[in-house]
Amino acid sequence: MKRTVIKSTGRYIPSRLVTNDDLASMMDTSDAWIRERTGIEQRYWIPEGEIVGASDLGLEATKIALDKAGWKAEELDLIIFATLSPDIFFPGPGCLLQHKLGLSSTPTIDIRQQCTGFLYGQSIADAYIRSGLARKVLFVGSEVHSTGLDKSTRGRDVAVIFGDGAAAVCFEGVETDKETGVIASVLHTAGEFAESLMLELPASRLPERGLLDCEDVARLYPTMNGSKIFKLALRRLPEVTLEVLEKAGMSLDDIDLIIPHQANLRINEAYQKTMNIPDNRIYNNIQKYGNTTAATIPLALDEVIEMGMIDTTKSTLLFVALGAGLTWAASIYRFGE
Ligand code: ACO
Repeated sequence: MKRTVIKSTGRYIPSRLVTNDDLASMMDTSDAWIRERTGIEQRYWIPEGEIVGASDLGLEATKIALDKAGWKAEELDLIIFATLSPDIFFPGPGCLLQHKLGLSSTPTIDIRQQCTGFLYGQSIADAYIRSGLARKVLFVGSEVHSTGLDKSTRGRDVAVIFGDGAAAVCFEGVETDKETGVIASVLHTAGEFAESLMLELPASRLPERGLLDCEDVARLYPTMNGSKIFKLALRRLPEVTLEVLEKAGMSLDDIDLIIPHQANLRINEAYQKTMNIPDNRIYNNIQKYGNTTAATIPLALDEVIEMGMIDTTKSTLLFVALGAGLTWAASIYRFGE
């Protein structure tokens, strides 16, 4: 049977460390508030004044993942790029990355699923691989949030939670009788909450882009109804976890490690408590990076592999996320060929 396995992972974090105290010098906030409400201690931003887009961070993560896989870019059948912070409004960063990899005709798919970008991307890779349309698929999740945040007090609820970063995963189709690779995926969207977390402009629904006045500048930054999203996460994350376990015919005891999206440590702690998950079976790194959105889950996966926290010959992982859209999703992945 054809299975979708992870051949390699890679991550790239830009060099500029930004502490909570650094943010407090830009807006009315404090290290204590950010730690207490979100668990975030620091994040990384791209170097000040440099022109760096999501495709640039994605390129660095891709080079590492391709190198670890022993693949040349030319071998890729498909590139899937997930971001909410594209280099330019269109075309998508998958096209830009493809060119930076020296490719001239490899297909690319750009997806706009924010914090669930990896889970949607993984399910697309799995569908292409299982159907025989592709054998080697590159997924890239990459975000340059820092250039698009309102760093005044007006934007402090959103600005303090996001960080820049990228991660890449090489997926490969293999023939095996074992139950390995992507075991089950569940994807959901509730567009009714789209405006609870959005970046409105530029927008095709506006009659004339040139007519924007000075007040519209605020609409060029993301806005969020944080408490609404928070409450939705507390309900949906446990729900979708149970749903994907049922789909896979598994229980939580079969899972060696859960990697949840990193939007707020308080959300993940509440999720852990609700699901009764022991500390050694859930991984959080939001303290170091903030929310890197589409990069978050593959970035954490790359870290846990590097730290030897999982056995890449047999561990079973559960990924779960919720974010703008509203989208929420979960998947179960088992290592081993
Ligand atoms: N520093 C200091 N004070 C702040 C800050 C800040 N950075 N931000 C907000 N405040 C103030 C508010 O103005 C408010 O003051 P008031 O009581 O005088 O009006 C007070 O703190 C409480 O504000 P809340 O917004 O209610 O704070 P909350 O405890 O909800 O925390 C947060 C805000 C961290 C954003 C939280 O709501 C959250 O994490 N929500 C979920 C985010 C999420 O999961 N998003 C989805 C993923 S992201 C993606 O998909 C792209």
